[in-house]
Parts: sequence; C-alpha cells; structure tokens
Amino acid sequence: MPAKKKVRTLHADLAEVLLTEAQIHRRVKSLAREIKEVYGDGELTIISLINGAVMFTADLMRQIDNPVRLDCIRVSSYGGKTKSIGTPQVIYNLTLDIAHRDVLIIDDILDTGKTLQLVGQLVRKLKPASLRTCVLLDKKARREVDLEADFVGFEIPDKFVVGYGLDFNERYRNLPGIGVLRPEKQTVGDWAKG
Ligand code: IMP
Ligand code: MG
Repeated sequence: MPAKKKVRTLHADLAEVLLTEAQIHRRVKSLAREIKEVYGDGELTIISLINGAVMFTADLMRQIDNPVRLDCIRVSSYGGKTKSIGTPQVIYNLTLDIAHRDVLIIDDILDTGKTLQLVGQLVRKLKPASLRTCVLLDKKARREVDLEADFVGFEIPDKFVVGYGLDFNERYRNLPGIGVLRPEKQTVGDWAKG
C-alpha cells in the first residue's frame, strides 16, 4: 500500500524512522494527561523554545484544556554541525509577564541540557510561582549538565534526528514523523540551532 510505504520511508534522506506520526500523536496525548494530573485545572504559562518546539507545542497545547498563555523564546548556540557545542545565547526573548505564574517550558529535545539550563535560569529570575520542563525527546547519553525534564515524551539513542520540528540546517522540520538523518546528509556547513 502506498500509504504504508510513505510512513516507513518518510524521507529519502533518513537512514531509519524512529517515531511515526501516529506514535508521536499517541504519546502527545498521554503526556497531556500527565501534565493535567500535575496542574489540575489551573492556568498554565507555556514557554516554547522556537523553532524546534513549534510542532510539539502546537499539538500538546491542543490536548490541554486548561487556560493557557503562550510565550516563545529562541536560543541559539553553535558552532558545530550535528552536536551542540558552545554556550547558548538568547536571540529572541520573552514578552509575557511570568511572575507568580505556573510556567511550563517546552522544548523538542534535551541533549547536553545547556539550552534548558540557560532558559530555566532566566525564567527563575522572573519569579514564577512554579517552573517545570517538558521535552518530546531525551538523549540521556549526551547530558553535560545536571538536569532532567519533568515530562519526557520518548528517550532516544544518541543519534542525530530530524522531523516534527527538529532540523538539520533548517531543513526537515516539516516531516510528520521523526527519523535519523543519513550520515552523508549531515555534512552541510553552517547551521544554526533552534
Ligand atoms: P542542548 O542545549 O545540547 O540540550 O541542545 C538542545 C537543542 O539542540 C535542541 O533544542 C535542538 O534544537 C538541538 N538538537 C539537539 N539534538 C538534536 C538532534 O538530534 N536533531 C536536531 N536538533 C537537535
Ligand atoms: Mg531546539
């Protein structure tokens, strides 16, 4: 069946498909239930790390029926190619007032942990009532700082992945599933992370 073939391949530049659109959708739904158990019916202020967390944030938010405020922050580092190196820097900052609010930071993937650590430090200075973190993917093997997310969609192996918001050189964000990029496709020069 043509539809099945499409799911298996997703894109010719992928060596393997790690998560299909359906698997992601199911997990996003159950993550929303976990989040709801913690927050009850209270209002949430979501801080989404763009661009990578755009798809995940949009899907997760729509599974949560609490009152929600949304803000975005963009952090960049690099540096390198498919490895996070260097110190992340804020290139687009928050605009909402988050003092005394219950804040949930959402990112696509927790890798070394430097990005979430930086954003966590910035947000804590703004005195939220509470602060938690939610990531779709967790590459535990790569952690360089002492940080775990409160909500994790999937733990994945130490492989460079793209799709569902995750990019290489700003490409592949629009793939509906997530897959491992072929090594020979990971060689383009200057790419910015976000
Ligand atoms: P960290 O600061 O090392 O935790 O990096 C987190 C950021 O690096 C994520 O928000 C992503 O933008 C990017 N990143 C880390 N691993 C991958 C990957 O496998 N594919 C695409 N982007 C990644
Ligand atoms: Mg990112």
